[in-house]
Amino acid sequence: MKESDQDYLFEQFRVERGCLGYVVADARSAAIIDPELEMVEPILDYVFEHGLKPAYIVDTHTHADHISGARELKSKTTAKIVMHEKAPASCVDIRVEDGDRLLVGDLSIKFIHTPGHAKDLVSVMLPGRILTADALLIGSCGRTDLPNGNAVRQYHTLYYTYRALPDGLLVYPGHDYNGREHSTLKEEKESNPKMHFATEEEFIEYMERENPDKLTPVYHLADALKANMA
Ligand SMILES: [Fe+2]
Repeated sequence: MKESDQDYLFEQFRVERGCLGYVVADARSAAIIDPELEMVEPILDYVFEHGLKPAYIVDTHTHADHISGARELKSKTTAKIVMHEKAPASCVDIRVEDGDRLLVGDLSIKFIHTPGHAKDLVSVMLPGRILTADALLIGSCGRTDLPNGNAVRQYHTLYYTYRALPDGLLVYPGHDYNGREHSTLKEEKESNPKMHFATEEEFIEYMERENPDKLTPVYHLADALKANMA
C-alpha cells in the first residue's frame, strides 16, 4: 500500500474495557468516530492541540454496552452528529445510508451498512483503512443477541460485504480486549473463526444459542441504551 493512501491525520483512543474511538482529520477539519463518554476530554485536548475543527461526530451504531460521548461533544463543539438512517436517537443531525460519503477537509469518508450486531451499524471506509465498529473485531465479531442484533444479517455482513472488500485494508475495530491496535482484512478473512463457519445455519445457531452463554452480562445495558437512544 502506498504511504500516500493514508496521508491524513488518524488517531486511536482507548478506554478501559477495550472501547476504541477515533479521530480522522484533513485540512484542519476533523471527524470523531465512536467517542465513549470517558474519551470526550482526551479527544477535545487532541483536537485543540492539533488546531482542528470537529465537523462530524459519528456514532457507528446505537451502542448497548457503553455510553456514547457524542452528545457531550456536540454541546462543546459545532460538529454534527452522524448516524445510520435507522438509528432511533433523536439527536442525529445527518442520517446516512449505505454508500453515502461525507467530506472531512479534502478527505472523502464512505459509510457501508454492515448490520447484524446492530441494525443501524455502519462501517466507515477511509483510504487504506476501515473502521469496523463491532461488525468485525480482531479475531471475532460483535454479539448479535442484544436488542437490535440479528445473526442472519451478521452472516451476510461477514461473508458477503467484508469478504468482497480489499485484503489490504487495515481493520480498526470498535473494541479490542487484547491490546491490539489493528489487523488487516486479509488476516481476518484467513484466520477469524467467525468468518469460517461451514454454513450460514451453523453460524446462526452458534450466534443465537452458544455464543450468548459464553459472554458476560453487558455493563449497564439498560442505562446505555436509554442514554444512547435519546
Ligand atoms: Fe456495540
